[in-house]
Amino acid sequence: MASQYSVLPNGVLPVVNTNGIDLGTFRAGRLDDATCNDLLELPGKDFSWAQTQDWFSTKFGSTNQDIVALLGAHALGRCESKNSGVEGAWTRLQSSFSNIYFSRMIGIGVPSNNAERNPWEQCTGVNCRNNVGVVDIWQNTQQEILLKTDVEMVISPSDECFAFSSPGGVPEAKTSADGVPSVCPLNDAANGAGVFEIVQEFAVDTETWWAAYSSAWQMLVDAGHENLYEPPE
Ligand code: HEM
Repeated sequence: MASQYSVLPNGVLPVVNTNGIDLGTFRAGRLDDATCNDLLELPGKDFSWAQTQDWFSTKFGSTNQDIVALLGAHALGRCESKNSGVEGAWTRLQSSFSNIYFSRMIGIGVPSNNAERNPWEQCTGVNCRNNVGVVDIWQNTQQEILLKTDVEMVISPSDECFAFSSPGGVPEAKTSADGVPSVCPLNDAANGAGVFEIVQEFAVDTETWWAAYSSAWQMLVDAGHENLYEPPE
């Protein structure tokens, strides 16, 4: 299963200029199961950060840094409603392995009427464009999307502000008594799991992200197995 994840971006990466950074080597020969009957369930599109963290750390021993780095692969490709029920790409440059995925997220959860500063809005039905009826999706004015786990890397779930707090329910923007939208606490070391700092670092430093991605991706491919081999060309 991990190989499914690893093959996807790897198929695209050889054509991307990575300034000499080795993004990882695909190694074959891993046997997860004798049959295909017991397939590992993949993370769901409505996974919270906590569920994502638990899934990757249990299966692969991934750290927060590893998981955030891996999710940067969503700079590539897109969601299609016929597959996942969600329509849209994480970035407009969807064939470029770039850290725009991270930089676009800075500013989520900061209430502001200034669309330039805070272009992300939670999909609530009328504003959902191609995602009418899909909960737990955020969209911006450039038609980019974020899933719940992407958003939760930046803001911490909380009753005061976080509209995904009732799973399956219709998301609502929370406001204070005087009607002012609440500022969401960041998922940083002070308020949460210390994940925001990692997003922030990758948002400004592509090479640090690529290096982190490379080691995390290799862990997914190898999954603790030895004697794997590089497939012949
Ligand atoms: C919490 C973990 C993850 C979730 C919830 C998630 C969710 C999704 C969803 C819903 C799609 C759209 C599928 C479709 O509609 O066709 C997608 C696409 C994609 N994912 Fe993930 N994903 C996760 C982790 C990863 C990881 C770890 C990688 C790679 C390292 C990855 C790489 C990709 C790529 C490259 C696409 C685009 C595929 C295409 O354009 O055909 N994802 N993911």
